[in-house]
Amino acid sequence: MNAIPGRNEPCWCGSGRKYKACHMQTDNRIALAAAQGHEVPTRAMLKTPAQLEGIRRSAKVNVAVLDEIARVIRPGMTTGEIDRIVRRMTEEMGGVPAPLGYKGYPYSVCTSVNDQVCHGFPLDSVVLKEGDIVNVDCSTILDGYYSDSSRMFIIGETTPEKQRLVEVARECVEKGLAQVKPWGFLGDMAQAVNDHAKANGCSVVEEIGGHGVGLEFHEDPWVGYTGRAGTGMLMVPGMVFTIEPMINLGTADVCTHIENEWEIYTEDGQPSAQWELMVLVTEDGYEVLSW
Ligand code: MF3
Ligand code: CO
Repeated sequence: MNAIPGRNEPCWCGSGRKYKACHMQTDNRIALAAAQGHEVPTRAMLKTPAQLEGIRRSAKVNVAVLDEIARVIRPGMTTGEIDRIVRRMTEEMGGVPAPLGYKGYPYSVCTSVNDQVCHGFPLDSVVLKEGDIVNVDCSTILDGYYSDSSRMFIIGETTPEKQRLVEVARECVEKGLAQVKPWGFLGDMAQAVNDHAKANGCSVVEEIGGHGVGLEFHEDPWVGYTGRAGTGMLMVPGMVFTIEPMINLGTADVCTHIENEWEIYTEDGQPSAQWELMVLVTEDGYEVLSW
């Protein structure tokens, strides 16, 4: 399955080009890094041009749904309403909400309010009120291709502390993104995220991270945000993964809802913020696929 084509044979990626003019150099560079002891992506992690087309189309729906939430979210709205809007709009655009039924998850979206870190249940009993900060995390399947991104929303006006937390969380993603380039390491991205959080007195959740995405909801590699530069998996053109650090105002410790075993909260009850984008490593840097 992972056979190496001859130089003049068609490339394994299906581009139609000769191997020597397509993935040959990339494969050689990966092999060299592996020989030097680095963690490297498998071929399955390098999306082909045809797969990327599908993922981009899925991402368009993903972004449109988040744009719609941005338009309608307001004080007094319940997160249950957000769930229905996400489901209806995703389906109208020909997609399926990826969370629905995923490992038994019962809703179409995750809505995490204030001290909820992630996987918050969208419920008719959760009314968004002035000053709340909420993460809306949308994941979409279109024609079998997955996309995943999330944004923070501030309901009305909030405290300067929570406002700053939301900004810092966004800046963390931007700092991490700036490190995404071929032949760097996932740890370069992680350290940029972690350094920025620390410099602003915030902490980064260690045990929950991002992931490869595209052909499945959660693919390898697992993507953490507390690693060191120069460590972790080599970034190679064609890799698609999420940058989605969870940034806490207080300590990094989190706990899980005892009954539903889904919703994650900060241990100290202080607020948490998260933005999530899906990024493709390109030949000369990156392409943001959804945000
Ligand atoms: N969207 C989340 C992520 O960013 C995953 C949620 S899992 C679900 O990876 F089942 F709760 F949807
Ligand atoms: Co994700």
